[in-house]
Amino acid sequence: MTQLSPILSTNIEKAVNCLRQSDTVCILTGAGISAESGIPTFRDKQTGLWENYRAEDLANAGAFERDPNLVWSWYQWRRNLVKDKQPNPAHHALARWQQAWQQQNKAELTLITQNVDDLHEQAGSIATHLHGHLWKNRCSKCDAIYDMPIDYTDAQLIHCPHCQGFIRPDIVWFGEGLPVDEWLHAKLSARTCQVFITIGTSSIVYPAAGLVDLAKYSPYQAKIIEINPNPTDNPMVDIQIQAKAGEALPQLVNQLLSE
Ligand code: APR
Repeated sequence: MTQLSPILSTNIEKAVNCLRQSDTVCILTGAGISAESGIPTFRDKQTGLWENYRAEDLANAGAFERDPNLVWSWYQWRRNLVKDKQPNPAHHALARWQQAWQQQNKAELTLITQNVDDLHEQAGSIATHLHGHLWKNRCSKCDAIYDMPIDYTDAQLIHCPHCQGFIRPDIVWFGEGLPVDEWLHAKLSARTCQVFITIGTSSIVYPAAGLVDLAKYSPYQAKIIEINPNPTDNPMVDIQIQAKAGEALPQLVNQLLSE
């Protein structure tokens, strides 16, 4: 395990003490938690074929309407990029923590993610996905689920067998609403938690970024912990863990579970 700086060790210890006194914890993860698995974050500059495009301009309902070929081929490219990626120590640490608390019936840990990859599930966590799933598809016209196998190396658009509309990834794009049940669950968890942890998110995309406010200003006045090598300037953060998730989380979870 990596040797941590004294300030980082102190902040991890503070976080552990705070978590030991809590019965309800809500965690929100973003693209940064998958960065150490080799998946570029959303605001990293894109490379290769896509270096002249911003992810925000492609993960976009308007972009698919204007140019479905372009958006579909970008997603096929992303699927190829992600398909062999494995959970990293941060995903594994969260899964271990969630399972341990569940088995001990100790406290509640709700994991909410903005990520569309399935690395939390691969590691063994149960996660609520606010922005959909990279591996699922549906019709852009009639909304029917499309669950036929897809060849990720083929960038040709696929037509819906029911209405001939174009098949699209089942992902929440800019300009679209979040899935209702998932969003309700996330809001409830944020409002009722005693500690809220954000991990690897720039916290600029709403409504997910507003969960931290719900937690802070709830009757429980949750303590806010942030794990990010590039801290956001959110003044609500109580404990800042300025480190990569894959370095900080295994240490934090080891200490927490070793009482
Ligand atoms: N560990 C923790 N955090 C990291 C790491 C790491 N190893 N590497 C990078 N980060 C941080 C970055 O400093 C940044 O703050 O992860 C964050 C990634 O930010 P974004 O790329 O903006 O990703 P995210 O916050 O998940 O984006 C939110 O925006 O485009 C939409 O729907 C998309 O879900 C996405 C949403």
